[in-house]
Amino acid sequence: MTNLSYDAKMREAMQALTQWGAFLTTSADGAQNTMAIGWGSIGFAWGKPLFTVLVRNTRYTHELLEKATEFVVSIPLTDHMQKELDYCGTQSGRDKDKFRTSNLKTAPGQKVSVPIIAGCQLHYECRILTSLPISLDELHESCHQWYADDYHILYVGEILACYEIA
Ligand SMILES: Cc1cc2nc3c(=O)[nH]c(=O)nc-3n(C[C@H](O)[C@H](O)[C@H](O)COP(=O)(O)O)c2cc1C
Repeated sequence: MTNLSYDAKMREAMQALTQWGAFLTTSADGAQNTMAIGWGSIGFAWGKPLFTVLVRNTRYTHELLEKATEFVVSIPLTDHMQKELDYCGTQSGRDKDKFRTSNLKTAPGQKVSVPIIAGCQLHYECRILTSLPISLDELHESCHQWYADDYHILYVGEILACYEIA
């Protein structure tokens, strides 16, 4: 395991995220869940490194994030976890425990109580700083095509740890 600066693998992270996706894992009230994400951004504000994820309000993950204080983004840098990403991107934790019904394995986080997804090379452990709901009134019309009525909420996490596991 190699600890990294939050921006050391930014290009690789964004390529993987947009090509096949990543796992967004969170927990609240004793429940734990992970879903696939394909959008997100790594940045810097308030003197802190940030990972911002976009979660639609119908997701069980959204329900958990509203009560959670932390999340983890685990990114496979190759497409070897395509099957698991498809599963976590089509099944809801509202209906089933995805950890019990798939081959997914977890490992403890370093700085947060949310686990990482084993088998992914890159991990971002985050503390939630704020959440920002998307409002169509304030969104440029070139982005409206992505919405009917299920809007995203942006969750802005401070990156507390970023590391690679070979
Ligand atoms: C590759 C991929 C990327 C996805 N990206 C997102 C995303 O960025 N935001 C989102 O809200 N849903 C995204 N989804 C859909 C969710 O992963 C999917 O609805 C999932 O079943 C939600 O799980 P949950 O109800 O357990 O939270 C994506 C799905 C796939 C397959």
